[in-house]
Amino acid sequence: MEVRLQKLIAGTGLASRRKAETLISAGRVTVNGKVVTELGTKVEPGRDHVKVDGKHLSAAQPFVYLMLHKPKNVMSTLDDPGGRTTVKDYLRGVSVRVFPVGRLDFDSEGLMLLTNNGDLAQGLLHPRYHVPKTYLIKVKGVLADDEIRQLERGVKLEDGMTSPAAVKKIKKAEQNSWLEITIREGRKHQVRRMLETVGHPVIKLVRVKMGPLTLGNLAPGEFRFLTDREANALRELVERRTTLEEGQESLSPRRQRPVKREGWARSSRVKKGRGRAA
Ligand code: URA
Repeated sequence: MEVRLQKLIAGTGLASRRKAETLISAGRVTVNGKVVTELGTKVEPGRDHVKVDGKHLSAAQPFVYLMLHKPKNVMSTLDDPGGRTTVKDYLRGVSVRVFPVGRLDFDSEGLMLLTNNGDLAQGLLHPRYHVPKTYLIKVKGVLADDEIRQLERGVKLEDGMTSPAAVKKIKKAEQNSWLEITIREGRKHQVRRMLETVGHPVIKLVRVKMGPLTLGNLAPGEFRFLTDREANALRELVERRTTLEEGQESLSPRRQRPVKREGWARSSRVKKGRGRAA
């Protein structure tokens, strides 16, 4: 069955559909030895020989993207000189060498993205345009509104002011409370240090979102491959950011939508659930 050229290229994981179209328009794609720049061109996989930048499409290494729910007390690296358990120990059956995109503290848990697409990983970790990451946190005590506002505006850490964050109250109990905090930076122990600064140390920290990815019901220690839609959303996010970086628009974190303040939930207990913080 014939398919559109850009769909075939995107299907290999080499590029998103949009990027594939750019490659075609730029004359970097040949079909049976001829440069093709027509976006509507149809090709028959297996019959037509498609090359991108002179490399046969079938020789392209497919990209692999997966999401792991890192459990607590596990290193977010691939190996540990101290012999502690690492995320690699949870990737049974994954034959491709994938790398973690970013870190989580040893005692944090939650969503970790792993991939063999180095460009995408670099794009997601770009210090100026870190993707938004959301953490569900249990903290000591209950934050007053002015402490929440402080976190939202930015707090002073020893390595400088933090960028504006979005904070949502989730639940409060007698001795502690649960919040969701979204930040666009990736400094070491950042969330823990921010909460420590406003006087409410973190007791538990779970990363529940990273850009377009959501942890959902994935249980601690489990992983799954990203869907095509999720992988494309990530690729497009990085491509959009690269375009913005090329000067077409500014992406200041201060342009985030204002946060609508909501009250604490009435219940004093957070339900235990699979893949969620207990
Ligand atoms: N912020 C932290 O303090 N720790 C993490 O593991 C992730 C974000």
